[in-house]
Amino acid sequence: MINIAIDGPSGAGKSTIAKKIAEKLGITYLDTGAMYRTVALYAVSSGKNPSSQEEVVPLLENIKISYEKVGGENRIFLNGKDVSEDIRMHNISKCASEVSKIPEVRAFLVEKQREIAKNNDVVLDGRDITSHVLPDTKYKFYLTATAEERANRRFKELSDKGQNVSYETILADIKDRDYNDMNRKVSPLVKTPDSIEIDSTNMTLDEVADAIMEHIKAIKEQCNTLTVYKNASVQDLRKEAKEFNIDANKVIKKKTKKKGGFYRFIAAIVRKAMGIIWPTKIYFKDNFPKNTKAIVVCNHYTALDPCVIISKLLGKDGKVLMKDEIMKNHVVAKVATELGCIPVKRGEADLSAVKSILGALAKNQPVLIFPEGTRNKSGSKEMLPLKQGVATFALKAKAPIVPLLYYKKTGPFKRNILIVGAPFYLDEYYDQKPNAVKEEVTEVIRDKMCRLRAELDILVEKCGGSKKKYFKYVKEHGKEIYGNERNGCKE
Ligand code: DC
Repeated sequence: MINIAIDGPSGAGKSTIAKKIAEKLGITYLDTGAMYRTVALYAVSSGKNPSSQEEVVPLLENIKISYEKVGGENRIFLNGKDVSEDIRMHNISKCASEVSKIPEVRAFLVEKQREIAKNNDVVLDGRDITSHVLPDTKYKFYLTATAEERANRRFKELSDKGQNVSYETILADIKDRDYNDMNRKVSPLVKTPDSIEIDSTNMTLDEVADAIMEHIKAIKEQCNTLTVYKNASVQDLRKEAKEFNIDANKVIKKKTKKKGGFYRFIAAIVRKAMGIIWPTKIYFKDNFPKNTKAIVVCNHYTALDPCVIISKLLGKDGKVLMKDEIMKNHVVAKVATELGCIPVKRGEADLSAVKSILGALAKNQPVLIFPEGTRNKSGSKEMLPLKQGVATFALKAKAPIVPLLYYKKTGPFKRNILIVGAPFYLDEYYDQKPNAVKEEVTEVIRDKMCRLRAELDILVEKCGGSKKKYFKYVKEHGKEIYGNERNGCKE
């Protein structure tokens, strides 16, 4: 699949260019900004405040976004209604920027975007495509222009459509949205180091499109050169990839994966079996990010806990920390490695495990850690004190944290429930020394897990496991859940 990612601030010409590139290559175009606008439009027309997490999140389950080509043009539909024009209203731009700050909205839309990119050759434009939605793609562009030039273009576009908004208002709004988009906590707009930057201030659309096409051609050629080296050693491939400044992991993975086929086959069976041994209903599975680094934290009751997560959530690239005792048997060790286990020596600083964890995160792989460090044998809802290692990893790798919670302690073949919380970042701590803030960050993680516990208890105990009832409950008792109380979790 070819996935071309174009990020940049509002009004830089991304959608026009992305459309052109898609046309030239004969592939699909996906305007991810239109998705955020659609959610904003739904919130506004439902009389809700687009900046309010409590008001917007419950709406998500009622939103169906689809696309259709009408007269050769891509149209976007909200619950079956063509909203392609409505979402371009000036007031919706600001509201889209507001809803895009809400982690649940992002998780909801990112999931859809990745699904489309997985199955189609596609050009995507947005704010977080290169950094978050498709960090592995080789085709990354950052398209920008001065705020004044972008305001000029928007002013002309709106005037042509008969919308009367002054240049000054547009310029102020553009600056405001730039600030919002670049400074929000979740997936802010950034230029990733591997993106090619194009400043379109003094360029025509055709010049920008031609420049991007040239780069695409060059990247394609580089990749082909690399894949020719089928018999090259892994070291040679790495060297070559470094020279071309592209991610060699995919090419190398293909080579190394050829070995150990037998154990991989057994691991695939074990992975399936793990999902069957413990029939677990997973709520909010969509929150689980795909194809990206993440530290997955979960409460820990029994040895079965990793099974469901390995089988149903982590994917083949996922890693799990395990006691190194399981590696004593040669066959078990091989299968466990194929399942993504990273052995950890307990009770000592295991540098090799630390290296493996940071290495996996650097390769955009999710890592599952049980932050309590040991099983909660009493089976209480209250978690044991958290170890501080998770905080250190999250800060060092600048990785989002995905909280998971099992509802209770059960056993093999007994039904259980698992909830996936919205991923969160710790950006406000990234420029501080991990050692200085790890205690505080551990508290933040614990707090998020406690809130998730509160939500899970409500879902199960007050709403009988019905998501519909749960959303209704959230609407009526929002504060009770999202307030500052540590629901369901005592210190
Ligand atoms: O590209 P646009 O102006 O149509 O996007 C509308 C808003 O949606 C914008 O303020 C930022 C947000 N957005 C985002 O956060 N992530 C994306 N991938 C695309 C848009």
